[in-house]
Amino acid sequence: MNYKLFLQNTPRDKDNYLLISPHRKYQHDEQSYDNQYQISSYDYVAGEGLQRLAESLNLDLNNPILELGCGTGRLSVGLLKAFDPAKVLVTDASSIFLDISRQKFLENGLALPHLGLLQFEDIGALPDDTFSLIVIRSALHHVDKYDEFLVAASKKLVRGGSLVFQEPLYEGLFVLGLIAKYLQKSTSDKELLKDLRLLSDTMRFYCRTDVDKSLAEDKYVFRLNDILSAANKAELGLKFFPNRSFEDFAGEPSQFDYSKFAQNYLKYCMSFSDKTVTFFMSNASDVLEYIAEISGTDHAPESSGVFVLTRTI
Ligand SMILES: C[S@@+](CC[C@H](N)C(=O)[O-])C[C@H]1O[C@@H](n2cnc3c(N)ncnc32)[C@H](O)[C@@H]1O
Repeated sequence: MNYKLFLQNTPRDKDNYLLISPHRKYQHDEQSYDNQYQISSYDYVAGEGLQRLAESLNLDLNNPILELGCGTGRLSVGLLKAFDPAKVLVTDASSIFLDISRQKFLENGLALPHLGLLQFEDIGALPDDTFSLIVIRSALHHVDKYDEFLVAASKKLVRGGSLVFQEPLYEGLFVLGLIAKYLQKSTSDKELLKDLRLLSDTMRFYCRTDVDKSLAEDKYVFRLNDILSAANKAELGLKFFPNRSFEDFAGEPSQFDYSKFAQNYLKYCMSFSDKTVTFFMSNASDVLEYIAEISGTDHAPESSGVFVLTRTI
């Protein structure tokens, strides 16, 4: 089936969303997502950065673009500004996230893209040899069999097409868990201990690959080797940009600061109180200074990164 027929023949719901997968509710509240991460409705930088990255690597941009796990549209708004919305299919597993994204597109005066309910696990339902780009921001780590997903997704790319994604990385989050474990010795405050234990337990769960992840929402933090092995299996070429976000490609890259990353992670991803964040940052200041020294100008623990996987055959 070609893409045009796929768009014509796939059933749609009352909102005109393509029903490729059933709705799957996110395990956290969709409506408070933007508030938790302080995401503005009018932030185009991630999409602009992705466009610049694609152009600088001379990626093929002639065919449709698919976004998976769009959430509240943090990447999508810029994507729709950078590329013709008619060429873009924006998807998520949750119809609540699709509603929030669609509302944002309208508020920004953007033409609507194709919108669809799609779970990573159902990527096989899309037509083969179709997309120039499949883009993902911070959602592949929710997929239990991400290696099988990459094999299946590679078939949906045209030759020369690329999967481009930004995901959290093992090293920086391993170090964060290590510091949290160590700091548990320095306090008897119940609230602080609860948060520090939650942080060290969460990082242990993300880092391990030998435990059942099927019921968890967030599952992995990746090592380069995890993605390289999966890319090899999918016969995709790999480029890797450690400690870079899509946003970084939009302007002059700034030097990655592990302390800032740690502070933001505690504040936004863990939603810890000011009390816990201040305790962590001040009691770990000697360790964080040591990490800054050992990092030099460009060798900080890899904490998040951008991967570009290209179909060459
Ligand atoms: C951490 S949020 C990231 C959202 C957005 N891309 C961003 O950068 O703000 C993860 C997103 O992945 C979606 N997601 C989780 N598991 C999924 C799955 N199996 N299939 C499709 N989307 C999934 C969630 O609904 C959520 O929107």
